[in-house]
Amino acid sequence: MATRITAKSLEKKLALDPETINVEPEGWEGPINWSELFGNVNPVELELGAGKGRFILEHARRDPERNYFAIERALKYCRVILYRACRDNLTNLRTYMHDGVEFLEKFCPDASLDALYIFYSDPWPKKRHRKRRVFQEHTVPIFERKLKPGCKLIVKMDYESYFWEIDALLHEHTTLQILESGEIDPVRFEPAFRTNFEVKLCAQGAKVFYLEALKKA
Ligand SMILES: C[S@@+](CC[C@H](N)C(=O)[O-])C[C@H]1O[C@@H](n2cnc3c(N)ncnc32)[C@H](O)[C@@H]1O
Repeated sequence: MATRITAKSLEKKLALDPETINVEPEGWEGPINWSELFGNVNPVELELGAGKGRFILEHARRDPERNYFAIERALKYCRVILYRACRDNLTNLRTYMHDGVEFLEKFCPDASLDALYIFYSDPWPKKRHRKRRVFQEHTVPIFERKLKPGCKLIVKMDYESYFWEIDALLHEHTTLQILESGEIDPVRFEPAFRTNFEVKLCAQGAKVFYLEALKKA
């Protein structure tokens, strides 16, 4: 059974192993060379706003032939991801504490991602906070640009009106081909791949919306 991580045990672990706190490696000034970073030329999948990383950690465990990169702007969550990645000796997973959109713009080379996952992105329902949303007119073309042709953006969302706004933004401001879009039964996702947020949603019987968009070749 996996060790339960509490804030206290994490602090203790991090104090013992200061290396794991270094979530922002030095020298990342320009675009990342993925093959240099991972030491191989395997495909790279990126999750923006990974939270505690349940989804991406499980992918990294199951598929050592692919590389996984978790962007999360909350330090406490980066630490959890790092701790679990170190504990499970995952050499194909990295995390980076940064704003995800800025990271993609500044650090991620165009046409370099084999998948981009954005799950349960904060909806910022108040009108005056909308500019904080990850999905905006100017951000969706960035998401498209970073994907390799033939690869997908996958979105999951619990907040229905924001979901349909995302659907409209992708239609209007990208050439991504929407393969699937709408409410789904979350039992479709294997429990081990559910995100932390999704585990809670499933327990509450909440609605889940899912979108899959393909970058045309
Ligand atoms: C509602 S939580 C969902 C977390 C995770 N995707 C899940 O399903 O369990 C949204 C997460 O996105 C992160 N986040 C929000 N905006 C972000 C941004 N611009 N860049 C990076 N992370 C972001 C938040 O810190 C938070 O951890």
